[in-house]
Amino acid sequence: MDNRLFVFDTTLRDGEQVPGCQLNTIEKIQVAKALEQLGVDVIEAGFPISSPGDFNSVIEISKAVTWPIVCALTRAVQSDIDVAVESLKFAKHKRIHTGIGTSDEHIRFKFNSTREEILERAVAAVKYARKFVEDVEFYAEDAGRTDNEYLARVIDAAIKAGATVCNIPDTTGYCLPDEYGAKIRYLMEHVDGLSTGKAILSTHCHNDLGMATANTFSGVMNGARQVEVTINGIGERAGNASLEEIAMIMKCHKYLDIETNINTSHIYPTSRMVSSLMNMPVQPNKAVVGRNAFAHSSGIHQDGVLKNAHTYEIMNPKDVGIDDNSIVLTARSGRAALRYRLNVLGVNIDDDEKMDGLYQKFLKLADSKKEVSDADVLMLAGSDATDAQTVKLDFLQVTSGLGVRSVASLGLDISGQKFEAASTGNGPVDAAIKALKKIIMKKMTLKEFTIQAISKGSDDVGKVHMQVEYDGSMYYGFGADTDIVTASVKAYIDCINKFRKN
Ligand code: KIV
Ligand code: ZN
Repeated sequence: MDNRLFVFDTTLRDGEQVPGCQLNTIEKIQVAKALEQLGVDVIEAGFPISSPGDFNSVIEISKAVTWPIVCALTRAVQSDIDVAVESLKFAKHKRIHTGIGTSDEHIRFKFNSTREEILERAVAAVKYARKFVEDVEFYAEDAGRTDNEYLARVIDAAIKAGATVCNIPDTTGYCLPDEYGAKIRYLMEHVDGLSTGKAILSTHCHNDLGMATANTFSGVMNGARQVEVTINGIGERAGNASLEEIAMIMKCHKYLDIETNINTSHIYPTSRMVSSLMNMPVQPNKAVVGRNAFAHSSGIHQDGVLKNAHTYEIMNPKDVGIDDNSIVLTARSGRAALRYRLNVLGVNIDDDEKMDGLYQKFLKLADSKKEVSDADVLMLAGSDATDAQTVKLDFLQVTSGLGVRSVASLGLDISGQKFEAASTGNGPVDAAIKALKKIIMKKMTLKEFTIQAISKGSDDVGKVHMQVEYDGSMYYGFGADTDIVTASVKAYIDCINKFRKN
């Protein structure tokens, strides 16, 4: 069996389905280019029929990348496939990913159909897609809970209809590693087109029970030759198998003799870029890319690592692109140091004017704190979007403390017009948001409010994520500032800008 493992990245499709993680087209292009540098084989760029935004992103990503296959998702429906074909017209290498639910739960409750009818619809969709592109991937949604004998019949028929890759999603994250591996093995042994190399199998594992990576690995050990993964493991609900974990498993366990095209030194910058653009923090203990993944805190471990890193480190941090941060950014750092750090973090700024603007913001921040961290640099790099907002925070003053009621006065700039209001509240954030609402005068309800832990010092930048409900819809906002009350108000304003856009 061929030992080349293809990496199919679905950060921009399954990953982007996470509420509050939506990217605009420019941001998606930035991620797609980073994925190309990382060495992924396939980029799933979107689900074109789902929205004009997704359609446009597939078009623009197709223009922006050269080597990876650009893939568009469809249901087993002709109009979906027509739209996908149109969206892929500029792709140098293109793939249509079409499919249908095959578990009895999906057949009965979602389609009110029968196994035979679903098989016919699968075949028809693959045949139709093959009229337009040579590379067609078929997915059997909820394959994890699909009866193996029926699944083998569907996969056999899809390959005969022209599928070159067959995806076996564990859509609900239900399978155990042995069970998922056995499913892949069963298919490898019972579907002729797989043993003769007409098509390969792909894994697509969700993490509902925390087994996405283990299941993916088990699938590969049993014959799958493509893995569908996301950066930082983001995705529907508990997420998908994470690209960085699978890539490093293959690299660390060389005896497996399975090769990917991933340039692992780009893992960390890509992880930071995705986390920062999506405002989706990476959990500190996340394997491979978490803040603590290479931090040794116990005395015994520190002693061992100082004697020889191999005592407690199975990976060299440099292999995943974590440098030892030898250049510390302070108010005395120049543009070159800032540009270097941005590059390490996966952000390339070619435009000199943009770089100048960013450098001025950097100096302002560096004046208010001792050292500027990676998180700060990424926050500054992403602040362009805030500059373009129509509602902006002009000023904010709060007084609060023990035994006194908090008071806030606040000014907004709305498309160039200035507004001011003041309010008291239960605390400084409550007072500031009440003042803000006096100007905006909409019935908004704060549903979730998360302050991200300040990691290093009391002068660090605090980050706030918010969910605000307005007119029956949920809006997700983000704000960052060295002042946590200001960060909270900025996050609220981010939500306001989002619903004003709709
Ligand atoms: O989880 C899933 O089943 C999917 C398919 C659409 C491939 O994301
Ligand atoms: Zn999925």
